[in-house]
Amino acid sequence: MGERWVNEHRRDGYTRRAKKEGYRSRAAYKLMQVNKKFRVIHRNDIVLDLGCAPGGWSQVAANIVEAKGLVVGVDLDQVDPIPGVTLVRGDMTHEITQASVRACLGGRLAHVVLSDMSPSISGNYGLDHFRSMQLSKLTLDFGLPLLSEGGHLVVKAFEGGEMTAFANHIKTRFARVKRFRPDATRKASSELYVVALGYDGRGPPEWGDFLGEDADDEEGSDDW
Ligand SMILES: C[S@@+](CC[C@H](N)C(=O)[O-])C[C@H]1O[C@@H](n2cnc3c(N)ncnc32)[C@H](O)[C@@H]1O
Repeated sequence: MGERWVNEHRRDGYTRRAKKEGYRSRAAYKLMQVNKKFRVIHRNDIVLDLGCAPGGWSQVAANIVEAKGLVVGVDLDQVDPIPGVTLVRGDMTHEITQASVRACLGGRLAHVVLSDMSPSISGNYGLDHFRSMQLSKLTLDFGLPLLSEGGHLVVKAFEGGEMTAFANHIKTRFARVKRFRPDATRKASSELYVVALGYDGRGPPEWGDFLGEDADDEEGSDDW
């Protein structure tokens, strides 16, 4: 971490606010801004939070769903306990982690699937975009079979050539699909969130060659 990054981080209003208001990350404000605009999470909901460390989104979700709801948070990293949140430590690409998350739901379906999963940043724009798309795709492949009909999805992605095709695949399963860049996202970041509302219950999209050699075939087919 360079001196410049540390200074910018200190100056950042959301970082200071998170510290003052007891949130574990400035990312908490991104989910608050998503939820203010799209109303994805409600009281009593069951929420999956993939890539939850250090826990800002899970804190926000737990506050909204209240005691009768459930938040299941998963991350590669250790997360300190959060009231109202069931935590799983593991790699979401591993079946054992996926099985643990399913076990936490105890046969119930989630109302909302969130994913703020982010690959380790290499600095290579194309590579980081590709890895982020792989995590986004994983979110749908794992999360949609666990999402109830009418449920909502919020998934992070880094801008790049596969974004339009990704959004078009999501559109085959949701009534409304929007892209959203919260004010709390850093200006220099290429991240955005895909907010998908009203799941039709049909399971993951048929991906075809998405992320394969012919992945950009669908480019330009929709102005989402
Ligand atoms: C930007 S952070 C999430 C911040 C979080 N939403 C918050 O509010 O505190 C991204 C997280 O994704 C996690 N992650 C990346 N790949 C993962 C994977 N394959 N399985 C589980 N977690 C993963 C990282 O460990 C990291 O903690």
